[in-house]
Amino acid sequence: MGGIVVFGAGGRAGRAVTAEARTRGLTVTAVVREPTRYPDLGARGVTVVRGDVLDAGSVAGVAAGHVGAVHAVSPASGPDDGVDAVDPGFFVQAADALLDGLGTAGVARLVAVGLGANLLGTDGRMVLDDPVAFPSALRPFALAHTAGLDRLRERGDGPVDWVMLTPAGFLEHGGPRTGRYRVGGERVPGGAGESGERSDGDGAGRPWLSYADLAVAVVDEIEAPVRHRARVSVFNVRDGKR
Ligand SMILES: NC(=O)c1ccc[n+]([C@@H]2O[C@H](COP(=O)([O-])OP(=O)(O)OC[C@H]3O[C@@H](n4cnc5c(N)ncnc54)[C@H](OP(=O)(O)O)[C@@H]3O)[C@@H](O)[C@H]2O)c1
Repeated sequence: MGGIVVFGAGGRAGRAVTAEARTRGLTVTAVVREPTRYPDLGARGVTVVRGDVLDAGSVAGVAAGHVGAVHAVSPASGPDDGVDAVDPGFFVQAADALLDGLGTAGVARLVAVGLGANLLGTDGRMVLDDPVAFPSALRPFALAHTAGLDRLRERGDGPVDWVMLTPAGFLEHGGPRTGRYRVGGERVPGGAGESGERSDGDGAGRPWLSYADLAVAVVDEIEAPVRHRARVSVFNVRDGKR
């Protein structure tokens, strides 16, 4: 199998995907906006290149010759990083540039990382629409992310076979690689009709995922695609010991 191209390779998910791909012997083209900011990224089998996920020409240029692409880009890294003031069109523009650029480059597979806030809660609303469960300051970011998912769906019949893997629950940076994960649908796992797991007072049964296991799921969907032109949730379930 040839290499993969990772957009957002300097971020938490991008680094985890790069590491997972390398353990499987896949070469990685690591796309960042400014390579001099990432002197630690280059390694055996990893080529760091400059690129912009918002520019279809840039995407096509860095993606050509790869078997698959990963979208692990985010315009904000957390609550203290301008998450309340993101460009509402960021993820739509990224979806368009990726679908157009990968199509031009002949790269037929895209695995995108989603956001749990647009999974459905037990009342049928998206989590982001529940003001009790979801902080209002994060809502603009979540809406922008959701618009990007909608754009992928609108353009679902094009040449690029995409899947969005949405981490359900807490995504733990530095958490262990178990090599396992569960795949759900549109609902937050644990609600009626999903995994059937129930949460107790210690958090046991709650959906959760490490970045490392997210990366396992991402690389699985590149190496052996199972889901096509769809969004699914990806999660593990706390056993009460963590
Ligand atoms: N529980 C959940 O649902 C959950 C939790 C956390 C994250 N996520 C999602 O997971 C994905 C990855 O998040 P993360 O935590 O890995 O984010 P992160 O650590 O902030 O990394 C995001 C990366 O995107 C890059 N980037 C920003 N704009 C770019 C552009 N125009 N072109 C190319 N790269 C660009 C940034 O690199 P440069 O600035 O150097 O370009 C940065 O390294 C996001 O979609 C995020 O929303 C979901």
